[in-house]
Amino acid sequence: MVINCEKNFDIKRLTSFKIGGKIGEVFLPENIDEFEQILKENNNIKVFGNLSNTLISDDGYDGKIILTRNMKSVTIDGNKVLADAGIRGPKLAQVVCEKGLSGLEFMIGFPGSVGGEVYMNASANSQSVSDKLKYAICYSQNEGIMKLYNDEMKFRYRSSRCQDEDLIVLQACFELEKSTCEDVQKRMDENLKFRKEHQPSLALPNCGSIFKNPKGDSSGRLLDSVGAKGMSCGGVRVWENHANFIVNDNSGSSLDVLSLMLQMYNKVKDTYNIELEPEIRFLGGKNNKENEICKILYKK
Ligand code: EPU
Repeated sequence: MVINCEKNFDIKRLTSFKIGGKIGEVFLPENIDEFEQILKENNNIKVFGNLSNTLISDDGYDGKIILTRNMKSVTIDGNKVLADAGIRGPKLAQVVCEKGLSGLEFMIGFPGSVGGEVYMNASANSQSVSDKLKYAICYSQNEGIMKLYNDEMKFRYRSSRCQDEDLIVLQACFELEKSTCEDVQKRMDENLKFRKEHQPSLALPNCGSIFKNPKGDSSGRLLDSVGAKGMSCGGVRVWENHANFIVNDNSGSSLDVLSLMLQMYNKVKDTYNIELEPEIRFLGGKNNKENEICKILYKK
């Protein structure tokens, strides 16, 4: 099996933030068998989907990563949908809509991949992955392939067992409700309208919500109340219409983003004694200034 792999890979163009340096080795599996083979043969390999929730250092990363973007198979059997990790949420939402199946309308607005959405239990517009997932096929470095049913996934807000145990999502099976194509499309249109009105489009490079919401509150509200909408650093700024988004004017650096996140974090901590937790992932490690900020923001 010859698996697509590129060394010294320039990642910037593939990230939603349009930021990022060179990656030591990038594997691009086309299917589950290739994915499993790469995982078996490589320790310490990190997995990413559509890079819509990840900030990558301009100094790059010397290790190996897998991008699932070429794994896009979907099989539909009645109301059950088995999707590879790499298919993008909006694409899957559209495919199931055409079959008149309801439950994934929220995915229309998230640019992420299904694997990442299961991993973090993505949610929006009163729907979440955990509402509709029947099981996930995951990979653990110690135990190999595991089939985990919904009640074994330890789903909670923006988190799952995959994060606790470093499990990699290979495939996800959703059990959906029968509806009509028109009704599903209507709900997706409403979600897209919400997204357009409340969140920046990807024409303004961004990574979605920067911080998770703290229990019982909203990061956007807290950040807004401390004046975050006026904050900026180098080529990035807090979006003027929602204080939990950072947008890049195309000249921003990874250090700009982390420095701005630290400003936002500190302001909320000083005012409310609440330590916001980043929702976006960071990949780097070679830049000392970035590492210092990550120690505070990511507590590691
Ligand atoms: N708010 C402000 N000022 C702001 C921003 C928001 O006062 O600058 C207030 C709003 O008025 C509202 C509250 O904060 O009362 C919550 O804001 P919003 O409805 O925009 O939702 P959110 O909590 O910021 C969450 C998800 C989004 C998801 C939306 C819609 C998180 C961190 N974010 O946003 O997910 O699309 O709900 O369901 O949970 C993502 O995760 O990347 C993402 C975009």
